[in-house]
Amino acid sequence: MINRTIIFLGTAFTSASPKVVKVLKDHLFFIGNDGLIEKIVSPDSPDYQALLETYQNDPSFHKVPEGQFLFPGFVDLHVHAPQWAQSGTALDLPLYEWLNTYTFPIEAKFSDTNFAQTVYEEVVNTLLANGTTTALYFATVHKEASLILAEICARKGQRGLVGKVVMDDSKQNPDYYRDYDSKTALADTEEFILAVKKLASSTKQGVYPVVTPRFIPSCTDDALKGLGELAKKYDTHIQSHCSESDWAHQFVKERFDKNDAFALHDFGLLQEKSVMAHCIFLEEEDAELFARTGTAISHCPVSNAYFGNGVLPLAHLQSKGVEIGLGSDISGGFSPSLFDNARQTVISSRMLEDGVNTALPPEKRGRENSRITINEAFYLATAGGGESLSLPIGRIEENYAWDVQIIDPFLMSAKLPIFDESENLLDVFQKIMYLASPENIREVWVQGERVHTRLD
Ligand code: GUN
Ligand code: FE
Repeated sequence: MINRTIIFLGTAFTSASPKVVKVLKDHLFFIGNDGLIEKIVSPDSPDYQALLETYQNDPSFHKVPEGQFLFPGFVDLHVHAPQWAQSGTALDLPLYEWLNTYTFPIEAKFSDTNFAQTVYEEVVNTLLANGTTTALYFATVHKEASLILAEICARKGQRGLVGKVVMDDSKQNPDYYRDYDSKTALADTEEFILAVKKLASSTKQGVYPVVTPRFIPSCTDDALKGLGELAKKYDTHIQSHCSESDWAHQFVKERFDKNDAFALHDFGLLQEKSVMAHCIFLEEEDAELFARTGTAISHCPVSNAYFGNGVLPLAHLQSKGVEIGLGSDISGGFSPSLFDNARQTVISSRMLEDGVNTALPPEKRGRENSRITINEAFYLATAGGGESLSLPIGRIEENYAWDVQIIDPFLMSAKLPIFDESENLLDVFQKIMYLASPENIREVWVQGERVHTRLD
């Protein structure tokens, strides 16, 4: 007998490779006590019928209703949880002014733990309702409020990777919002890491501390060096922003006479569990360094349209062996949905390939071989995110976590244009990728636990 706590019968979509989506039609999924997929049985398998008969009346048996589909949960590689409070506003300024005018003031408010509790409860609920089962979060400089975010993820069942943000340079950050000094920043980070590790010991789906220098411009050398050492000492994930905009990229070049990638590497901040947001201005050697160290890119296409001054050459970076996943970058990106970010990935890549300045002749306008398909964007939102974090997530496959969303394309209030019951399932998949709204997400499961049910 298969050791299982729950069984699903349904049709699932998952990435077979970055370009290929696999359909698992009417498969049986056995999920163990630990929330991992223990066994997947296809209808062609000789024991399928017997297993179905044995388990179909079992209380642990879940049949995905006809016409609904299993998708892997999304992995959002870049979310500023406190910025949820200003999402959908404040997008009229370039990065530097945006930070100082809108973002530092809103993040400063998280010294108030009641405010933090309110916003963080809501952002975790919202992301779960959007199918995001794992999120890599920036919190704020405040260690208490950052721990509250980790606790909320733990309690609500989302796999949260959470960073207390470090920004200690008194010349670059406002006095009302920064770490007191580098020593305090490092001590607070270490305390935070230990507290989250303790919380993790009683959290089924996992909760992880993340070493989080905001970006090089906000940190002193002492803090960057100390953070690299802390990440090594506690074997944590690392996140930051890297070569995001003309301004941010130039700032680092002037300070260190090298690009972000090499500067971060000098401080021990590029490794297998590092995820760097944006990276639009990576040069060839930077990309090779990313590939060599196992550092991943969090691609945030909605945000990049506002702050990036360009489009990430994603296809080229992938061809160089760099791991890439998707990020919403709330609130630089206004949407909490990775469906929206997957769509924007495709759109931006098409504009990169063709170019946008019609004053130029077509052959001079764009960057060839840049287009990304919707299948590839799905990979980035799921399996690519899992690989970037070095976690067994993002695929509906044996030994991966049962992190899924159940999509209902036939909801009365949000029906997708499917008219033929025998429509090719890969066309149905594409319609879901392009047209699904949060309403179509009926249920969300993380590590074998139901964490969200859509209210009718
Ligand atoms: N660079 C430094 N801080 C931020 C931030 O909050 N959002 C974005 N998009 N870029 C940053
Ligand atoms: Fe960001």
